[in-house]
Amino acid sequence: MMDRKLRAGVVGLGVGKAHARGYIASPDAELVALCDMSEARLNQQADEWNIDGRYMDYRQMFSEAKLDVVSIGLPNALHAEASIAALEAGIHVICEKPMATGVAEAQRMIETADRCRRQLMVCYNYRYRSDSLWVRRLVQSGRLGQIYHANVSWRRETGIPGWGLFGSKTASGGGALIDLGVHVIDLGLWMMDFPAVKTISADVRTLFGPHGRKTWGRTPTTNRIDDFDVDDGGIAFARLANGANMVINVSWAEHSQANDDYFHVELQGTEGTAVLHVRNYKNDDTLRLYTEIEGEPVTVIPGVRFSGSQGHEALVKDLVASLKNGTLPTATGQQGLIAVKILQAIYESAAAGHEVTLNGG
Ligand SMILES: NC(=O)c1ccc[n+]([C@@H]2O[C@H](COP(=O)([O-])OP(=O)(O)OC[C@H]3O[C@@H](n4cnc5c(N)ncnc54)[C@H](O)[C@@H]3O)[C@@H](O)[C@H]2O)c1
Repeated sequence: MMDRKLRAGVVGLGVGKAHARGYIASPDAELVALCDMSEARLNQQADEWNIDGRYMDYRQMFSEAKLDVVSIGLPNALHAEASIAALEAGIHVICEKPMATGVAEAQRMIETADRCRRQLMVCYNYRYRSDSLWVRRLVQSGRLGQIYHANVSWRRETGIPGWGLFGSKTASGGGALIDLGVHVIDLGLWMMDFPAVKTISADVRTLFGPHGRKTWGRTPTTNRIDDFDVDDGGIAFARLANGANMVINVSWAEHSQANDDYFHVELQGTEGTAVLHVRNYKNDDTLRLYTEIEGEPVTVIPGVRFSGSQGHEALVKDLVASLKNGTLPTATGQQGLIAVKILQAIYESAAAGHEVTLNGG
């Protein structure tokens, strides 16, 4: 139990802005420091929120700002290095997804958190939507029966991030699969309470990015096109240890309905199928339950209400509350590691051209 406000910081002010807003909205936290290597971005945000703690070097911030908790919103390849530095400075961490670009790094993060007795939370913000939470409750209640198939996807017609370092394997560890796939892999497994994954067979493609095509918002890319060396789409088949299976289908770019951008989690069970389908990040009309009543097929359109905090704000508040109360947050480092193992297996399988076996699920 902590009886004062937690001192919070944010590193990386792209999506890190959403974390900052979460701390600002949390009555038990105080946002005291920001860090970004872009001085203009740093000052713009610090001015907007009236923050005195301004750093361009996160190690300096960790040693000087007396933080209790920090969010890491850096390019993927820096997640492990920055999280480990924060944990070793005694600071609890919320790390953006994917937790790391490889299994060994993710394991080092978990070991460091355990050794330093700090919390390490992975930013799975889509778990904190009222509709996602409803599907998880539905599964947990047994209403779907035995789930035998999960179909998870995130597909964009024109959605290759044209900013940052998303097109670089060195900086990001991969492309669409690691960027978008990580969210829906986590959502599907979390809703099913994490059945172990036995094998993965995958294929990935790089078709649009190297030509500067289908960049998010149809704006010219700032990626160095010559350096674009990540997947802009891919598909995977996973066998689960409980006898079920999962298909993962992800694209940053494809020919489909103009501007389509949706994520989809479909869980098929012996007593019903639940579908979460979120188009363009909207909250309305996202759910279906297909089942039978009196021997006849019926379609249920759940009227889940979106009340209270959602997404990043709810996630940040969850960690703040768990630190205040001494409880465990959801989305632990161990759960982050599961998706990293699957993603690593996806890229290994695609490179090898055959199915790979995961050790330890
Ligand atoms: N959970 C989500 O929904 C979500 C959404 C977008 C991005 N992300 C994740 O967040 C991370 C960042 O993505 P983004 O879209 O915000 O990228 P971005 O490029 O917009 O922002 C990254 C910021 O980090 C800063 N930066 C880079 N290296 C730095 C360093 N060494 N020290 C200090 N600052 C540094 C950059 O100047 C930039 O402002 C990625 O891991 C991405 O996968 C998650």
